[in-house]
Amino acid sequence: MVVTIDGPAGAGKSSAARTLAERLGFAFLDTGGMYRAVAFAALERGVELTDAEGLLRIAQGVAIESLDGRVVLDGLDVTRAVRTVRVTAATRHAADHPGVREHLVQMQRQTAEGRDLVTEGRDQSTVVFPDAQCKIFLTASERVRAERRFLDLSGRGERLSLDEVLRAQHQRDEEDFHRPTGGLIKAPDAIEVNTDGLSPEQVVERLMTLVSASR
Ligand code: C5P
Repeated sequence: MVVTIDGPAGAGKSSAARTLAERLGFAFLDTGGMYRAVAFAALERGVELTDAEGLLRIAQGVAIESLDGRVVLDGLDVTRAVRTVRVTAATRHAADHPGVREHLVQMQRQTAEGRDLVTEGRDQSTVVFPDAQCKIFLTASERVRAERRFLDLSGRGERLSLDEVLRAQHQRDEEDFHRPTGGLIKAPDAIEVNTDGLSPEQVVERLMTLVSASR
């Protein structure tokens, strides 16, 4: 069984998807971690992010695993390294690249072979797993999403004001919603869950109910 969770940055997808996967006994695939890993590898190797061919070579030449909350790049744990503000801003170059997307989409489908999976990202319900049995679109208001991201970044020692987080998030929403391939749109058969005012536990309970109903 494949459960897809898509939605904008800060809606709480990662933590909800991870806990949901644990409760169901499914694997958890964080596809954002894969785009982040490509951008991180390019930055590390001094490849210009605007060099389309170089970026594709990087994506095709590295081994990326983004399962169960850990991002591993060529055998090295980069889970924290790919979540910095710098890598987050660079990731759009990997996400905007049709060739990189095609390659990562193939890897995502391979990951689902032979296992039950909860997968989260932007295009999981629409492009990668259009036949998934359970599709969820997780949202929250701009303000609530920015406040969550602000707390998360502060906890990791990144110094950004709430206003700066709001602006960066707005920019990322624009990019995510308007990307020609793999852009963020709600699949017609996805169920929307707004997480405003819900505790993480309440979100997971709601998702568990939706998964049970679609089994
Ligand atoms: O989910 P996360 O914030 O880690 O994703 C990082 C970036 O990767 C997003 O801003 C989005 O642009 C991109 N992404 C994507 N397609 C996915 C997952 C993430 O384009 N399936």
